[in-house]
Amino acid sequence: MTLSWVEDAKRRAVLKAVEPIKSGWIIGLGSGSTVAYAVAELGRRVKRGNTELSVVPTSHQVELLAISHGLRVVSLNEAFTVDYVVDGADQVEQSSLNAIKGGGGALLREKIVASAAHRLVLVIDETKLSRHLGGKQGVPIEVLPFAYRFVQSRITKLGGRARLREGAGKVGPVVTDNGNFVLDADFGRIAKPQQLERQLKAVPGLVETGLFLGMVDQAYVGLRTGEVRVLEPA
Ligand code: 5RP
Repeated sequence: MTLSWVEDAKRRAVLKAVEPIKSGWIIGLGSGSTVAYAVAELGRRVKRGNTELSVVPTSHQVELLAISHGLRVVSLNEAFTVDYVVDGADQVEQSSLNAIKGGGGALLREKIVASAAHRLVLVIDETKLSRHLGGKQGVPIEVLPFAYRFVQSRITKLGGRARLREGAGKVGPVVTDNGNFVLDADFGRIAKPQQLERQLKAVPGLVETGLFLGMVDQAYVGLRTGEVRVLEPA
């Protein structure tokens, strides 16, 4: 099977991003199609026999995948701290490495595990690298179902437009692994992400935003040429 250049770029970048992982580490696994390459590679390493790892998954998707690749799964309550997180992203600002995440609806657990970790590494293909946050990329926001209309109206007051994410393979809205809804909020180009984050987090019923600010240690960017660029925050 031939991979598209995007899939090939993601896979190459993942292989580089997991190189620093050492035996005995507890690895946080983000969610999505990019992380799936990391799970497969870590599974291969463990099967070869010279690496022992525990993984903390951030969704049912990646938990089931990790189990199927023979990885030892532990909960965050057992692990408590995490050595290294490998995750994908929907958009990464190239200077700061601030990111928007949550395309797969796993942003809440991803943010918790990233916060508990010594190192957060994102893996993307070059199309996700951006000069600024926002623009065509909306911000996924996890909300309590009880409060979603209220949160939607507060987002409108903050200058955004939020729509309820609809499910696929099920009628009705997406329900996250935590039993919540997801709003996709369009703020256009986000000039002051820290301010927006503060304003959003002050809305009762809003559980978490997909803005990952000042959290990312490195981004591995798979390029169309087949190379991988490693970025650190400026
Ligand atoms: C899930 C995420 C994913 O990391 C993000 O949506 C990127 O997904 P993919 O690796 O499939 O492109 O934030 O909540």
